[in-house]
Amino acid sequence: MPVTEVRHPLIRHKLGLMRRAGISTKEFRELASEVAALLTYEATKDLETLEETIDGWAGPVKVERIKGKKITIVPILRAGLGMLPGVLDLIPSAKVSVVGVQRDEATLAPMAYYEKLSGSMHARTALIVDPMLATAGTLVATVDMLKAAGCRRIKGLFLVAAPEGLKRIEAAHPDVEIYTASIDQRLNDRGYILPGLGDAGDKIFGTK
Ligand code: PRP
Ligand code: URA
Repeated sequence: MPVTEVRHPLIRHKLGLMRRAGISTKEFRELASEVAALLTYEATKDLETLEETIDGWAGPVKVERIKGKKITIVPILRAGLGMLPGVLDLIPSAKVSVVGVQRDEATLAPMAYYEKLSGSMHARTALIVDPMLATAGTLVATVDMLKAAGCRRIKGLFLVAAPEGLKRIEAAHPDVEIYTASIDQRLNDRGYILPGLGDAGDKIFGTK
């Protein structure tokens, strides 16, 4: 499975700011969105384009546009919503497929509770967005959902990923491409990523 740790200086700087204890909701939210935009830039590098000739200011001019059906962004409720604005900044005409998967805090098992997908999923590239890839239970459940709806091209964008989760998604769905701002060290005994960001959902929404 292709895993890309996007080691751009802007991403490393912004992720460093996100790791500070006591960061405000406002700053965490802004940075989550900014890093999401930078990951989107990297994850869309291989999109195919079509050439066409249009009327330009000085006559006909050859230009390119993205080929095929519009991308669908798949934010996983709830923390994935924090990355959505940054992705939409770069792909404003994307469709959005919202998926709800909650990790049980005791067992760490994923519980899928909501699904509202774009039409024609078989013809779209899906960009899953979620700040954290920890055990990968949530991601595997989401990819299962997208594949059941016919989706064939799936990429996942994460702020931080744990090696344990990367192994699990590779075993379950080796065709899914992963882009992350950082592959961190490991999970702790409660399934939190170390050094990680803490609870990303709480930080984005200001809960707890
Ligand atoms: C967090 C995170 C991922 C999931 C990752 O969400 O945003 O969706 O945990 O963990 P996993 O890889 O072990 O499945 P959570 O279920 O805590 O919900 P939230 O978005 O409401 O905070
Ligand atoms: N969910 C989070 O929000 N943080 C983690 O470290 C793991 C799962």
